[in-house]
Amino acid sequence: MAVDETRKSVAVYAGHLISPIDSKSYLDLRRGAIAVDASGTIQEVGPVDDLRAAWEGAHFYDFGDRLIMPGMIDLHIHLPQFTQIGKSGQTLLSWLEKYIFPAESKFSDTSHARKIARWFFTELARNGTTLANVFTTIHAGSTDEAFQVAAEMGSRAIMGKVLMDRHSPDYLTEDVDTSLRQSVELCQKWHGYDNGRLLYAFVPRFAITCSSAQMQGVSKLWHEHKGTYMHTHLAESMEEVEFVHELFPDARSYTDVYKRHGLLGDRSVYAHAIHLDGRDLSELSSTRSSIAHCPSSNFFLKSGRFHYVPVTDAGIRFGLGSDVAGGPYMSLFQVMRDANYMQADCWVDPPELFYRATLGGAEAVGLSDKLGNLVKGKEADFIVVNTSRKTEIAADMLKQPTEEILSTLVFTGDDRLVEATFVRGRCIFELEPNLVSKTEQRFSGAPR
Ligand code: GUN
Ligand code: ZN
Repeated sequence: MAVDETRKSVAVYAGHLISPIDSKSYLDLRRGAIAVDASGTIQEVGPVDDLRAAWEGAHFYDFGDRLIMPGMIDLHIHLPQFTQIGKSGQTLLSWLEKYIFPAESKFSDTSHARKIARWFFTELARNGTTLANVFTTIHAGSTDEAFQVAAEMGSRAIMGKVLMDRHSPDYLTEDVDTSLRQSVELCQKWHGYDNGRLLYAFVPRFAITCSSAQMQGVSKLWHEHKGTYMHTHLAESMEEVEFVHELFPDARSYTDVYKRHGLLGDRSVYAHAIHLDGRDLSELSSTRSSIAHCPSSNFFLKSGRFHYVPVTDAGIRFGLGSDVAGGPYMSLFQVMRDANYMQADCWVDPPELFYRATLGGAEAVGLSDKLGNLVKGKEADFIVVNTSRKTEIAADMLKQPTEEILSTLVFTGDDRLVEATFVRGRCIFELEPNLVSKTEQRFSGAPR
């Protein structure tokens, strides 16, 4: 049969497909496949035999019984803090002063920024993270380098320059006009790059380091630049909350500080959001603001316990964040595990957790029409997971029901399981050279 030319540019990836449909139900296709076209869009998802027949002439990669799952979404992470992973012994405000601000000051040097950005985006891909919502530093040049590196490496990110104009070390304090002007310049250069692979977020660090004028300025810019994000920290530690009350005595609560400055709304992402009351939850919900839940960081910095059930019940969209270096690892497998361990009196089950690390994260940033699970028409962001990479995982695990497989992944998974990571159909990480190309077969299915 003559092969349609366009099919030659399609790639069919076969394996054991597991992908959330919602927070409870999953597609689990033991011999499944996805067909991905040259633009990186998923054209079909189904049983491997059906796709072999439908996509004759396409490239065919057979991952055997390895898992093919949607890539994970890290809703809150700090690029410049990657060098500070594992520095402990402090709570939030003293930890910032002792480790984090000095590390961020090094980003006045753009060559340092380039070096760390390459390392950072390499590690994200190696950990199976296909979208990260990233804080950089106040430095515009270094933020530009970080975007440049992500652009070159095929990474997907929402990212932005941090804004800080008070209660910060001199070397990280800027004037409001400069911080706003540089943010707009970066936004104009990078927001929407490569058909939306890179997106811009305005990033006021938190209410302690941002004056009213700066937050109002951010609100104006965020609303003027459609499709951009606003990303900040909210109510992470009690010491921080008390300081915010002193700085803004007229505000009812920390959430109210952001509300008064026009920072709640769709496409706002609040990291941590631990110390909130019922009214705060209603405000976040009614304004369609989102939360990045960062359990590993909350544990590491002893910040407190996230109100998992009340936040869910309030209907607030939320996903998971590693918060590196507040969290000591990038792997969202480990973050999912901590999200379970951190709840003392409720059981957060693995299907729910895997949903939060994928589709739930995509919903939180308004991108679930494009990302979050393996569905026809979405962009092909996926990972190949080989459970035999960890010898303590029983060989028959993959034959078990979906929830048992997800449970094993959540409670034993880490970066070692990830063999390959794809963003928009392009392989941006493979554990060994040619790991993906070695799985390519002739259309007949015979090994090459
Ligand atoms: N609050 C303000 N800045 C930071 C930061 O860098 N990390 C964390 N975890 N919380 C913050
Ligand atoms: Zn953070």
